[in-house]
Amino acid sequence: MDRQMQASGFQVREYRAYIPWRERNGRFSPLGLAVFVVVLAPGLWLGGGLFADALGAKPVTVLLHESGTWAIRFLFLSLVVTPLRRIADWNRLIGIRRMLGLAAAAYAVLHFGLYTVDQAFDLAKVASEIALRVYLTIGFVALLGLVALGVTSTDGAIRTMGRNWHRLHALTYGLAFLATVHFFLQSKADVTEATLMAGFYVALMSCRVARKRGFSLSSPVVLAAIAVLAGLATAGIEYLWYALATGIPAERVLAANLDFRFSIRPAWWVLGCGLALAAVPLARRLPGQIRRALPRSSSART
Ligand code: HEM
Repeated sequence: MDRQMQASGFQVREYRAYIPWRERNGRFSPLGLAVFVVVLAPGLWLGGGLFADALGAKPVTVLLHESGTWAIRFLFLSLVVTPLRRIADWNRLIGIRRMLGLAAAAYAVLHFGLYTVDQAFDLAKVASEIALRVYLTIGFVALLGLVALGVTSTDGAIRTMGRNWHRLHALTYGLAFLATVHFFLQSKADVTEATLMAGFYVALMSCRVARKRGFSLSSPVVLAAIAVLAGLATAGIEYLWYALATGIPAERVLAANLDFRFSIRPAWWVLGCGLALAAVPLARRLPGQIRRALPRSSSART
């Protein structure tokens, strides 16, 4: 029957169910299993906290904030996969991108559900708040985008949509931008993690632009330049936020970047992560260089 269908022009394709700890060829993936445990862990931890009545006086507020935080973290981790795969020349990494993206979408849906719970299921109020408050409107657009990407992340959709699938999924960068803006706008005084996300966003976009302009992401020099650029941009974004959106003296926040007594500011974390990534291609080349150097030194001794 299958042969008859192929002969008559039908393409018979095998669609495998998506199992996080299996690679596309059906083989067991320890990396997939590890990432599956990681994406489930925050949900289980929060569920356990709720069950044990350990989330304080306002458990829904805690859950709302935590689910939003994990949604954006997994969204960014899903974006890190592509450059990291090129930097570390580790192709298998691509297998976990879908899981991280789905986790981001799932935590975002949970986050929205918790907002509805927080509004006592008053859907008219939820809709009017989303329409009236800019940070909620932005969050809502990001949520719709994440759900659209999640729904089209099946093997079937990838095959059916072809090039359009790549175009649609490139929107992830736009959604990460919206999620970061939502994060900033809802923040009260402390924008540390939002600033961190903004810095990582600059780093990720720089990797993308660098590659499009023909620079190799396996070059430590290119990666170090991106790290410095993203670190400086992070300090700049933090300065601008405090200067434009708060009454807190922005110069003091900028100066705090050079004062390590209380905390290490986001700009340093972004720079540090970027430089750590720049060290990866160097570390990969090291064993080869040592191997090449060894026979020469041993022959020199004889
Ligand atoms: C309809 C969609 C959304 C609604 C109604 C919504 C609503 C909210 C609300 C009410 C807060 C807390 C604000 C406050 O305490 O004053 C919040 C925080 C937050 N949301 Fe959303 N959000 C939506 C979508 C998203 C999406 C798609 C993401 C990420 C992918 C996200 C990430 C966050 C983050 C990171 C926080 C801050 C959490 C923290 O306190 O650390 N939200 N959101």
